[in-house]
Amino acid sequence: MELEDSLYPLLRELNLGIDSYEVFRDADWALLIGAKPRGPGMERADLLDINGKIFAEQGKALNAVASENVKVLVVGNPCNTNALICMKNAPRIPKKNFHALTRLDENRAKCQLALKAGVFYDNVSNVTIWGNHSTTQVPDFVNAKIHGKPVTEVIKDKKWLEEEFTETVQKRGGALIKKWGRSSAASTAVSIADAMKSLVTPTREGDWFSSAVYTEGNPYGIDNDLIFSMPCRSKGDGDYEIVPDLQINEWLATRIKKSEEELISERSCVAHLIGQDNGYCDLTEDTRLPGEQ
Ligand code: LMR
Repeated sequence: MELEDSLYPLLRELNLGIDSYEVFRDADWALLIGAKPRGPGMERADLLDINGKIFAEQGKALNAVASENVKVLVVGNPCNTNALICMKNAPRIPKKNFHALTRLDENRAKCQLALKAGVFYDNVSNVTIWGNHSTTQVPDFVNAKIHGKPVTEVIKDKKWLEEEFTETVQKRGGALIKKWGRSSAASTAVSIADAMKSLVTPTREGDWFSSAVYTEGNPYGIDNDLIFSMPCRSKGDGDYEIVPDLQINEWLATRIKKSEEELISERSCVAHLIGQDNGYCDLTEDTRLPGEQ
């Protein structure tokens, strides 16, 4: 009712349903938002399994009925691994078309940098989120720019960048839940729209956006079979390429590795959902979604 009453200029028709084989029929875009939140006493492995089953089913349904070039953006957590599961269950759809949402983290990073530098957020560019949408994510201030200058030349407080900035972005989802009693909603919705716009609008010359995408053949040596957030640019045709040649200094490399290792562990936990044998699950206690403290 509220969607109808909002008179959105692009909204033509609403169809509600719970059968993914019906609602995904001929879809060009699928935004997979629903997932079960982790409850008290629930192991992360259980969460991966429960949500993984949802995304395996949705992958199968997309494979069966969606448009052959459907773009899939996974928001439900743990979104990187859910996107991997969905992709593996949809072999008809190009692997490149699967994304997990890290644009929310990019927007959060831009906001923090803008506040610290005392500039408006649209002067902040070239912000990459590397890795997992979890507290191991790496918001990259090394390659980011403010007014076209390296962030490190504008914000000279290296300790703030390495510690406070990084941690604030990594834990922003959790901070919101703590304050608000529920997950971020409005900023997530905005970032989903931003993520879609980034794929249907040419990326500004020299800039890029973050999206967690399939790693096969990636230029950064990240393990080949993951959904990992990286810098991307688009010609505006719905497709994208990973931007190569960002400077990866030792500080970034160590942290990117940690996020990669976390995603490799998550992949092992869901081996049974992605057609792989011999999976095992030994996720450590400090593996967290942004919303888990
Ligand atoms: C966020 O980053 O706000 C969410 O992913 C948090 C959550 O766990 O729902």
